[in-house]
Amino acid sequence: MRTALFLIALAASGLVHAESCTINLKSNDAMQFDQRSATVSSTCKTITVNFSHTGKLPAQAMGHNLVIATAADYQAVAQDGLKAGLANNYVKPGDPRVIASTKIIGGGQTTSTTFAGSNLKAGGAYKMFCTAPGHLGMMTDQLIVK
Ligand code: CO
Repeated sequence: MRTALFLIALAASGLVHAESCTINLKSNDAMQFDQRSATVSSTCKTITVNFSHTGKLPAQAMGHNLVIATAADYQAVAQDGLKAGLANNYVKPGDPRVIASTKIIGGGQTTSTTFAGSNLKAGGAYKMFCTAPGHLGMMTDQLIVK
């Protein structure tokens, strides 16, 4: 009996500490993400971002991207992204503050990108956000790094 409980405890702790190397996030026509946060591990060799738009509106009207930056940088990244325009997916080309970014997608579309976990620090403050014009206030999530 004690052995069984010990094994259950071990299995549970294994789940808590398992590496999370994928971010799955959806967006919609109401300018929303489907979650408020995601959790990944800085020890991941590669982190995969899968981002989809479950709405119907085209990219010109309700396009979304997913950008990752530190909490300290994200507002400036979004401001510079606005100036860069849709042709640049609302991300300043070569912006060193951008840890990862997807292209802008419209309703029914899916995109993905990858980046190295070594670009994140465990316990650091990070944001995942959309830099389309006027979206930042509604579309900013926490990225929790373990
Ligand atoms: Co958006």
